[in-house]
Amino acid sequence: MSAPVDQQRKLHLSHHSAAEIGTVAADLVAGLVEERPRAVIGLATGSSPLPLYQSLARRQLDLAAVRWFALDEYIGLSAGHPESYAAVIEREVITPLGLNRATVLLPDACRPDVDQAAADYEAAIASAGGIDLQILGLGHNGHLAFNEPGSALNSRTRVEALTERTRQANARFFDCLDDVPTRCITQGLGTILDAKRLLLLVQGRDKAEALRDALTGPVHPDCPASVLQLHPDVTVLTDVEAASLLPAGASAP
Ligand code: GLP
Repeated sequence: MSAPVDQQRKLHLSHHSAAEIGTVAADLVAGLVEERPRAVIGLATGSSPLPLYQSLARRQLDLAAVRWFALDEYIGLSAGHPESYAAVIEREVITPLGLNRATVLLPDACRPDVDQAAADYEAAIASAGGIDLQILGLGHNGHLAFNEPGSALNSRTRVEALTERTRQANARFFDCLDDVPTRCITQGLGTILDAKRLLLLVQGRDKAEALRDALTGPVHPDCPASVLQLHPDVTVLTDVEAASLLPAGASAP
């Protein structure tokens, strides 16, 4: 299945060094917060957004009224597990940026009914008025958040099984592969598409195929990130290595 690309869509793609990606992305977040102090911002985990969080932490921004929603959370880790995304976001975002923890929501994967936790999370995003800016990384298999290949393009926040490829990629954070959870709660692709603006951060040659497929391949569940082609306002900040397989002319320096 492929969908026509909306002629009106705005995709801004530019190349930077890793340090510049953080600065440029932080400029964008800072501009949004200045314009809209009560902005709703979607947080990604993984290594890609770290330069952004580090750059934000060096600025004196008033983030008191901003509300934050994480993209996803593992199921099966104990509350407070250091690799739960709640703990990662505490370490990488809440503490360095000095945020009030109550302003940062994640799916509550420790609840006995995880399907209900997913539905409640979707409802919480809606009752905050939706996400103004969603920060995103990209999986090697084209996953966005934890939407693995095969995810419906209009999917909502739900329980999802992790693929072996994703578990292996994330095993670096755990003692061994067996410790990596097999399930998660993730915002859906449809949930992500509802954000007013998307900011995708991609670094490294190992992401080049996924980035090429996401931006220039067919819009298809085989490459979940291909939904970016359906969104009207996407900014992609990439290093030269990740952009190396994009067709000439696909980027504006
Ligand atoms: C995880 C996260 C994704 C993230 C991806 C890429 O699987 N759930 O949201 O985009 O990893 O991570 P990294 O940026 O470390 O390559």
